[in-house]
Formats: sequence, C-alpha cells, structure tokens
Amino acid sequence: MLIAPSLLSCDFSRFGEEIARMDKAGADMMHLDIMDAHFVPNLTFGAPVIKFVRKYTEKPFDVHLMISEPLKYIEDFAKAGADIITFHVESDSPIQETIDKIKSFGIKPGLVIKPNTPVESVYPYLSDLYMVLVMTVEPGFGGQSFMADMMPKVEALKAKREELSLDFLIEADGGIADNTIAVAAKAGVDVAVAGTAVFKAENAEEKIKELKALCEV
Ligand code: DX5
Ligand code: ZN
Repeated sequence: MLIAPSLLSCDFSRFGEEIARMDKAGADMMHLDIMDAHFVPNLTFGAPVIKFVRKYTEKPFDVHLMISEPLKYIEDFAKAGADIITFHVESDSPIQETIDKIKSFGIKPGLVIKPNTPVESVYPYLSDLYMVLVMTVEPGFGGQSFMADMMPKVEALKAKREELSLDFLIEADGGIADNTIAVAAKAGVDVAVAGTAVFKAENAEEKIKELKALCEV
C-alpha cells in the first residue's frame, strides 16, 4: 500500500517543514487538497502556495482538485509543480478536454468520484487515467468517518482494470486509519490518503509503517 499523507491536517504555519517531515517519515507522495468554497463548502489554498512548498521534497505531489472548474486552473497547477492532478467527474469542466490538458503538460491525470456518484461514470476515461480516486467521505473536510460501503466501487474498478488490461492506480481518500486501512487494502486500494491518522500521530514514521503493515495481513 502506498501512503499519501493529506496535508490538510498539517500545521500550515510550517507547511514546507511539514512536507519535509512527511518525506522523512516515509510518505510515498504528498496529497494536496485544493478547495474553492463552491464545489465543496470549504476553502484551502491554490497554486502559488504549492509553488512555494514544492522544494521541500522530491516525492510526487498528488493534487486533488475539489473545484468547480478544474480546466481553467490546470496550467497554474502544472506550472506550480503538480505530478498527478485528480479532478472530480462531477465538476463543471468537460472531462476529456481536462484530461487532455493535464497530459499536455506531461502530468498524470486522475478522476475522482464522490460517494453518491456511480463508479461507471469514470469507465469511458479509464484508458487515459493514471489514477482513479474513490472518495470514502464527502469531500470538504478531514477527520470524517470512513465509508466502507464505497468498497464495491474499488472492487469494480479492480475488475475493470483486469478486464481491460489497464494499469491505473486506485486511491481511497477519507477516514483511512488503523481500523479501516485493511478493509481498503482487501478491496484493492493501491494508494491510501491519510490526513488525521498521520498528522495526529505522535510519530508519523511509525504510523506510516503501521498503516502499511496492517495491509499485509
Ligand atoms: C477531504 C480530503 C481528504 C481529507 C482526508 O475532502 O479530500 O484528503 O483531508 O482526511 P482524513 O484522513 O482526516 O479523513
Ligand atoms: Zn483529498
């Protein structure tokens, strides 16, 4: 299991150092949650902030856009140093055009589905995607409870990937912790986003190791 700490739960007065701390702690990639107070009822930060913190790690930046019009901002996030850009299938931007725009900058595209969105909505795009992100909470806030009833979507994606001989990663985001990560792993999740679990831990390095170990049983 790859672990992507969600910086949403970090100490933002030390954003860069928090990224460096996660790097040392063994994070596989940094999950950066971008919210526009329109697509979701919360507001975070934008591309200029990402540009400033980019230098604190060489690990991939996994940028999760929870914004209504991702297409308009792809260039900004690409130039700021995103490695993976995931955007919501429920957003107002044309999906294929947005995927193509992400690829045009040499960045890996991903699609995200909210809990009430059927998994089939991403099927037409699978061959173009590096990652599919299945939300296991309603997007907008950290610290919510994991929705185990999203696991059939993960299982369906895994089956589809096999059927079509594709190799996209399956990511789960929301409520991942000691008591839920094994469920995600068993269903077929490859990348687990963890905000609260990693940032509230006394020792992030141990927590990341522990989370990975829980997936191996
Ligand atoms: C929710 C964000 C998540 C969130 C995860 O909208 O996309 O990345 O911060 O936080 P936890 O792990 O606390 O649920
Ligand atoms: Zn996220």
